[in-house]
Amino acid sequence: MSKSDMTKILVTGACGQIGSELTLALRRRYGNDNVVAAGHKTQPSKALRESGPFEFIDVTRRETIEEVVDKYDVDTIYHLAAILSAIGEQKPQLAWNVNMNGLYNVLEVARERGMVRVFCPSSIAAFGPETPRDNTPQETVLRPRTMYGVTKVAGELLGNYYFSRFGLDVRGVRYPGIISSETLPGGGTTDYAVEIFYEAIKHKRYTCFVREDTVLPMMYMPDCIKAAIDLMEADLSRLKHHADFNLAAMSFSAGELAAEIKKHIPEFTCEYEPDFRQEIADSWPRSIDDSAAREEWGWEPDYDLAAMTADMLDKLGKRYAEGGI
Ligand code: SER
Repeated sequence: MSKSDMTKILVTGACGQIGSELTLALRRRYGNDNVVAAGHKTQPSKALRESGPFEFIDVTRRETIEEVVDKYDVDTIYHLAAILSAIGEQKPQLAWNVNMNGLYNVLEVARERGMVRVFCPSSIAAFGPETPRDNTPQETVLRPRTMYGVTKVAGELLGNYYFSRFGLDVRGVRYPGIISSETLPGGGTTDYAVEIFYEAIKHKRYTCFVREDTVLPMMYMPDCIKAAIDLMEADLSRLKHHADFNLAAMSFSAGELAAEIKKHIPEFTCEYEPDFRQEIADSWPRSIDDSAAREEWGWEPDYDLAAMTADMLDKLGKRYAEGGI
């Protein structure tokens, strides 16, 4: 398939951690007017508002999706609106409603209109304590213990079902924790790997909510965006998987991340006070086997721990100097 197959794109969750940057990347690639950003309640950033169309959508109310899809003649949806793992444990009913009914509504709107393609991310949260934790295979035990994880497994299955049953081209990856410098993540378990950078720059110290030896798979935002676009542009005939690709870039412990930051900010100190999110982190893999993504659509990450840390500190350092954080 080619770039021109996707003419009108809708991004739900466009004000979120991934959406805010992915929307701008999609606009650069496909044209500003061809990418409609949709948020729920959060006001869009200036960059988002001024670079192309913006609408409000509540994904749990199907008619709000339909209105925007019909207004812009949308043929491709990047569906990023979701409740993350930590908030999901505090508000499991909300997580089910937004993540499951929201996805169902998006898929139904896409099916009814014969859309070209839907991207719906899954997560390492689809795995659980019985899953092999190192080099977690593509095909493995999916028995998550969080509501977020339950909705991610069900979402993968639903996406694959819509492909085989209705021919709707649904694609998705199991994202690791995403680290980024533009928009903070909203209520996930891997948020410490982002917060630590802001606190290191602003206060030279951080109290981390997971133990020092907690290892999780992580990914830097440029790779996160590359994965979404590359998978969506991949030739369908090469894909054996659809909504459930394992995806990896780097794995490190909280202590290793703190040590890497200390190389740039020698006075930085980190303390560890685990809270309820430790148990969630302990139920997820330490590292991921992403060979299916590599074979089927040529996935390859660009950033490791050292390169990501240097870039994060550079970007946030500049914003801090300008009073932007
Ligand atoms: N980053 C997410 C979370 O922590 C995982 O997908 O909830």
